[in-house]
Amino acid sequence: MTAYKDFTDPPSGKPGDDAASGSGEGTRADPRGVSRRGFLKSVGASGIAAAGTTMMSAAVLADEAPPVAKAPAAATGSGAYTVQFSVNGVAHKLNVEPNAVLLDVLRDRLQLTGTKKGCDHGQCGACTVHVNGVSVNSCLSIAVMHDGDEITTVEGLAKNGKLHPVQQAFWEHDAYQCGYCTSGQMMSAVAVLHDSRVPADDHSLREAMSGNICRCGAYKNIVAAIQDARGKMRRA
Ligand code: FES
Ligand code: FES
Repeated sequence: MTAYKDFTDPPSGKPGDDAASGSGEGTRADPRGVSRRGFLKSVGASGIAAAGTTMMSAAVLADEAPPVAKAPAAATGSGAYTVQFSVNGVAHKLNVEPNAVLLDVLRDRLQLTGTKKGCDHGQCGACTVHVNGVSVNSCLSIAVMHDGDEITTVEGLAKNGKLHPVQQAFWEHDAYQCGYCTSGQMMSAVAVLHDSRVPADDHSLREAMSGNICRCGAYKNIVAAIQDARGKMRRA
């Protein structure tokens, strides 16, 4: 339980510890009761860059959905953490390394290989999943930060053997060539179609989808497919 204790211990008050001094960035208390310094220590050097990016993503997403206070994943005592989340409505309890990336956990531990690894740097959108209904680049997201979350991957879009309208529209409009970007495109498209802040015109749609890169250049058909799905979802 040593590592878990590191997550939750109050500031030590030692001289030079900015968590104790009451000054500087390190004094900011995390809303979940996890100190920034304690978290960075626990993930280790290899996880720091990714964790920082994930925190940045959370800040960006804060405009869309306020963060929900929750307890951190629990340490197992072997360096791994136990994290529990649901994926496509199925509950999972996994022991993962503190720097394990959500994309790798989905693909390698849960065999949900529909979510693709393209750039692995947050630049292509191939790895897009929904976390509590919000689009997230899973290649930039640390798995232990998702304790209690509801995650949806492309495998969870179809219901009762029926394709989601976005999936059906991609099929009907040939909105892919190699298909590598397609699952990420569809996940972003579903989120965009549920986001009332995004106007319905093509220009706004292209802007909202600009985080998803298609190396095959199937953009024209992708836009057509999403607009078609928009109409069908309105009528449903
Ligand atoms: S693989 Fe995540 S954004 Fe490219
Ligand atoms: S269909 Fe090939 S990358 Fe988009």
